Amino acid sequence: MDLRRLENAKAILSKYHQEHLLNQYDRLDETGKKALLDEIENIDFDLINSLYNSTKKETKHNKDEITPIEYLDKFKLNEKYKYYENIGKKAIKEGKLAAVTMAGGQGTRLGHNGPKGTYDIGLDSHKSLFELLSDNLKEEGKKYDVTIPWFIMTSKENNKATVEFFEKHKFFGYQKDKNIFFFMQGELPMIDTEGKILIGENGLIKLAADGHGGIYESLVKNGMTKKMKQMGIEWAFIGGVDNCLVKMVDPILMGIAIDKKVTVACKSVVKANPHEKVGVFCKRNGKPNVIEYSEITEDMAEATDENGELLYGESHILCNLFSVDAIERMGANPLPYHVAFKKAKYIDKDGNLVVPDSPNAYKFEAFLFDAFGSVDEMAVLRVKREEEFAPVKNSDAAGVDCPKTARNLYKKFYNLD
Ligand code: UD1
Repeated sequence: MDLRRLENAKAILSKYHQEHLLNQYDRLDETGKKALLDEIENIDFDLINSLYNSTKKETKHNKDEITPIEYLDKFKLNEKYKYYENIGKKAIKEGKLAAVTMAGGQGTRLGHNGPKGTYDIGLDSHKSLFELLSDNLKEEGKKYDVTIPWFIMTSKENNKATVEFFEKHKFFGYQKDKNIFFFMQGELPMIDTEGKILIGENGLIKLAADGHGGIYESLVKNGMTKKMKQMGIEWAFIGGVDNCLVKMVDPILMGIAIDKKVTVACKSVVKANPHEKVGVFCKRNGKPNVIEYSEITEDMAEATDENGELLYGESHILCNLFSVDAIERMGANPLPYHVAFKKAKYIDKDGNLVVPDSPNAYKFEAFLFDAFGSVDEMAVLRVKREEEFAPVKNSDAAGVDCPKTARNLYKKFYNLD
């Protein structure tokens, strides 16, 4: 092993008071040693310090001016419906649209041991979420006589298992590196309440996915936007993997974006109740934005207009369309990180595994919608919940956004009963 690298790592760690990260070094095999040194050399310790400092501050956004956002209702467009549809259809037929699926997560909350996209929601067909999404893409592609290219974002944790799953299923008819592409999202270390980076069970740094806000940078860094441009793609629909009714190909949404010359167009559904666990669209200091459900105040969540409708009632359902140029611009500007306090297993200074029973560590995640503020205008299109939103987030015991509710919505939409 290269002693110079080890000395260099020690110097970095001492500068940032993270010397404990080498505690397990001697126990690691050669591959592990190399991996740990790679990690130490690549971590942005200044960023970690500033993230730790941010955990000490009160909520940051309280001085922001939050106002409702305008939206269009897909079913109240009247004669404009056909107009937008024609514009969108033309662009789709010309091969200008790609789909991007954010699938960096595991199915842990569902009790599923594997990538969330491989989860079977219990339909008679036993199709996985990935297969349900691929069915939709293929069905839509047929309408326009194109294959909609599919880009799938995985994480370090689930990339191998995801690609193997697709291989096993012959990529659901797609061709790897021709019209289906996989790329990985970024990760950040988890830190304890003293700002010390945790060591994971494998003796390496405890890393966690850095949220889907890293998607723009990952698309650029991994050469995906370049590939899109080479393929003549101008628009990318970015959606989550956990909505089995997601409609990734929507000529109306495309038509509106093109006609209104906006670089971002998002779908919304009416919030089911003031406390539904969804983010809501709004304007923050005059710019488009989403307030996440974990960050909205009770007053704001419950505020209504003169008709009794929720003022902040347009739910963000992770169905967002971007121009490829906008993705490139967004990829060049890092987004702020949001802090979550989580339970995380780690190896303590004596080399023992600690399994906490209450939260002990900070995890940092960027949210893709924080990039909305970088555009002056974007379009929000209200669609029908029963047609487009059947998320699978929790196990059936929760009773909402669970396999049972998603399965029922899916069956109803496709008349499967
Ligand atoms: C999310 C949205 C919320 C929205 C709701 C709709 C966020 C922060 N909030 O909440 O505004 O109303 O969905 O269902 O997203 N993912 C990755 N990598 C990551 C993190 C997430 O690929 O690092 C993917 C997941 O696989 C999933 C999607 O992003 O497809 C949503 O993530 P999740 O953490 O489940 O968000 P929610 O809390 O449900």
